[in-house]
Amino acid sequence: MGKPLEIKDLKALAKRRVPKMFFDYADSGAWTESTYRANEDDFAKIKLRQRVLVDMTDRSLATSMIGQPVSMPVALSPTGLTGMQHADGEMLAAQAAEEFGVPFTLSTMSICSIEDVASVTRKPFWFQLYVMQDRDFVINLIDRAKAAKCSALVLTLDLQILGQRHKDIRNGLSAPPKFTPKHIWQMATRPGWCMKMLGTQRRTFRNIVGHAKSVTDLSSLSVWTSEQFDPRLSWNDVAWIKERWGGPLILKGILDPEDARMAVSTGADAIIVSNHGGRQLDGAMSSIGMLPRIVDAVGDKIEVHIDGGIRSGQDVLKAVALGAKGTYIGRPFLYGLGADGKRGVTTALDIIRKEMDITMALCGKRNIADVDRSILLDA
Ligand code: FNR
Repeated sequence: MGKPLEIKDLKALAKRRVPKMFFDYADSGAWTESTYRANEDDFAKIKLRQRVLVDMTDRSLATSMIGQPVSMPVALSPTGLTGMQHADGEMLAAQAAEEFGVPFTLSTMSICSIEDVASVTRKPFWFQLYVMQDRDFVINLIDRAKAAKCSALVLTLDLQILGQRHKDIRNGLSAPPKFTPKHIWQMATRPGWCMKMLGTQRRTFRNIVGHAKSVTDLSSLSVWTSEQFDPRLSWNDVAWIKERWGGPLILKGILDPEDARMAVSTGADAIIVSNHGGRQLDGAMSSIGMLPRIVDAVGDKIEVHIDGGIRSGQDVLKAVALGAKGTYIGRPFLYGLGADGKRGVTTALDIIRKEMDITMALCGKRNIADVDRSILLDA
């Protein structure tokens, strides 16, 4: 394959380079995957207005998300097990994002730890928090994110219990990964991936091991991760987390206007309209399908962000036109990482930036701040 020109090219490359169980882990949604597919497909239903003979010089995509400057309104989503797409994946992706001038969000379920990522970056990154039943561990994570000077806490609300993904079950993928002969074969057929993985010490959930009380080794970690998500999580928990954190707070996983109104009442800085990339409630509406209703409900009271199904700069522009102040990409950067490490993440960001820039111009706009519903047909 020649130079990757679109996110699809990175996906094809990643499929060739990443062991099947980890590629599938990224490329999967819950149950029938209908929401996963809808996230992507619903963008195609939105049509842009082509404009001509307007000045298209001196264009700018630079803006801000929660008051922090970004070179374009695209952040990297928090994704678990990123260090299994490529050795030291979170550290490489964070560096690529930093150089590009966009936020990187480190997942609680990352392979590299908060401290690992802090050691290779100069600017603050964002940290995503899952509220585990072990509240001492949650406090430990918040305090470590503060110590690392993370500049936003992204609190994920849509994973009180785990959705089911058939591909992971069929692949025997557990958390942490347990290696059977089938897995070893899958890894052996990806020698480049294997060599890099053997060259790093970072191969387990380093945010957790050595920090959560009952986790001492791989088997206790396995039990811990399967039991720790909190089905009792409530809006009161959001309040104490906000207070303990004390910095910018983004609530992730809002897909309903009623929940969006509740989110506003917590005093959070932003919400992310999200269905976890179609990995939780299969049958839910796509994120882009819900965005207008949520913007109508709370868009004048809180910054509204979105993730799910964004695969191009055109998709980002459509989301911005419908009222999103920021967008996030999950799989596109994972495919870049699997395809070519840090360079692949940069390529993913670059593809999206170029598409966004040209599309904005052809819609007759020069500045991302001027992009609104007027660039859409029938919106
Ligand atoms: C995720 N997502 C996720 N979200 C989160 O808050 N914490 C996490 O640890 C993870 N882990 C995770 C792993 C993988 C492999 C994927 C694909 C996704 C959800 C993620 O943050 C985001 O909501 C979606 O990925 C956005 O959709 P796209 O861009 O992947 O379509």
